[in-house]
Amino acid sequence: MVDSHSRSTTDENIVWHSHAIAREDRERLHGHRGVVVWFTGLSGSGKSTLAGALEQALHAKGVGTYLLDGDNVRHGLCRDLGFGDDDRRENIRRVGEVARLMVDAGLVVLTAFISPHRAERQMVRELLGEGQFIEVFVDTPLAVCENRDPKGLYRKARAGELRNFTGIDSVYEAPEQPELRLDGQQLVTNLVAELLVVLHNRAIIKN
Ligand code: ADX
Repeated sequence: MVDSHSRSTTDENIVWHSHAIAREDRERLHGHRGVVVWFTGLSGSGKSTLAGALEQALHAKGVGTYLLDGDNVRHGLCRDLGFGDDDRRENIRRVGEVARLMVDAGLVVLTAFISPHRAERQMVRELLGEGQFIEVFVDTPLAVCENRDPKGLYRKARAGELRNFTGIDSVYEAPEQPELRLDGQQLVTNLVAELLVVLHNRAIIKN
C-alpha cells in the first residue's frame, strides 16, 4: 500500500484526507493484523469451501474476518459484470479495492475468486502493502474439478451452452510463485491447518 494515506486520483480536486485512527491502531485493538488471503484456482477447485472453513477456524480464535466470495459478490457489487476478459479484470479490480479497505479496517480478508489472470492478481498485490497479500493457489486438476462439477457448469460448457468457461474455452494462468500452493484433493481440515500455520508464522495471528 502506498501507506494508507496518499493515493492518487485522476481528479485534482479530490484530496486525500488523513484520519486520526490508522490501521495499526485498529490492529492493536483487534489483537491481530489485517491481511488478504487470496485464494485462486479453477471453478470447483475448492476455494470457497476452504475459505469458509478457514474463516470458521479464525472466528473461533477471536479473529475478525470477512469472506468475499466470487459467486456472492457477483450478486451485488459486481452484478453488472460478465466473464469476458475486461469484465473479469474489473471484477478483480473492485474486489481488490474492497479487500484493501477491509485490510485497512484491520480484518483478515479471505477472497475466493477464480482470478484467472496473473496480471490482475499482481495488480491486487501491488494495491496492498508488503506482506499483506498472501496468494494461495488451490491446485486441483481440471479433470477433478470437472468431475466434481458442483454447479453443473462444466457440463454446460462442454455442451456449448456456456461460453468463456475457465479451463474449457477461457484461460487459467496458474500462479508461478504463490505464498502457498495447496493440493485441493487433500482433506479440508488438513489444508486449514496448513493455512493457520502460515498465518501464525507470518505473525498475522497470535495463537
Ligand atoms: S473471475 O474469473 O472473475 O475471478 P469469479 O470467481 O468472480 O470469476 O466467478 C466464478 C464463478 O462464476 C464460478 O465458480 C462459476 O460458478 C460461475 N461462472 C459462471 N460463468 C462462468 C464462466 N464463464 N467462467 C467461470 N466461471 C463462471
